[in-house]
Amino acid sequence: MRLKPIELPGALEAIQERRSFRAYLDRPVPRELLERLLNTARWSPSSTNMQPWQVLVVSGEKKRQLDKKLLEAFENKLPMQPKVNAYMDEWTEPYKSRRHACGVALYQALGIGRDDKELRVEQSRRNFHAFGAPTALFLGMSSALKEGSLFDCGMFCQSLMLSAVSLGLETCPEASLVFWPEILREFFHVGEEIHFLTGLALGFGDYQAPVNQYKTDRADLAEWVSFVE
Ligand SMILES: Cc1cc2nc3c(=O)[nH]c(=O)nc-3n(C[C@H](O)[C@H](O)[C@H](O)COP(=O)(O)O)c2cc1C
Repeated sequence: MRLKPIELPGALEAIQERRSFRAYLDRPVPRELLERLLNTARWSPSSTNMQPWQVLVVSGEKKRQLDKKLLEAFENKLPMQPKVNAYMDEWTEPYKSRRHACGVALYQALGIGRDDKELRVEQSRRNFHAFGAPTALFLGMSSALKEGSLFDCGMFCQSLMLSAVSLGLETCPEASLVFWPEILREFFHVGEEIHFLTGLALGFGDYQAPVNQYKTDRADLAEWVSFVE
């Protein structure tokens, strides 16, 4: 048990330096490293220590099979039915502008113009094979749980991503990987007792890829914090 403050400048660095990677090296992540990652993330806090997270880790031939199914769904424009909807019905400020800036940064890094529809679709398509990452994680929780457990799973997800950075791996959280829960249910033999919350691309980052050459910005404290003294 720790009885003094943690001396880990690396922890702060990991939070500030983590970013979403959308291109990966063709190099599998060893099972030992995956287990180390999960063994670290399981120390995330949760309401009354319920630890609501459930994780499916898919790699190798199985991942190639799943990629095929999700890419088919994208190409056939199958209606998306995410359990957790992060999109507003009508986009209002400041979210509208922040979301817009996020898209602009991505397409600028790729040199894709506003009207280059085909290249934009091709980039969207890459979501559905987890941007070529050797491993994809699917994070879910029991459908019997309440929305409070979503906080816990969100924190767990961040723990996964920060642990990944510390272990030399990169990630991209991906709502798009869980757009079609029925495909995942059939593939993983999982029933309605589990809600899929998000996917996560995981692998060794391709630091040379143009898509990985930018970092998103964050709003200043003045926009979202009030000190009451
Ligand atoms: C729950 C969640 C779902 C996301 N889904 C996607 C996704 O489907 N595709 C994608 O390219 N990025 C996705 N992202 C990544 C965000 O776009 C990214 O976190 C944000 O732009 C901030 O950039 P950063 O992660 O590089 O700091 C998702 C992020 C979160 C937290």
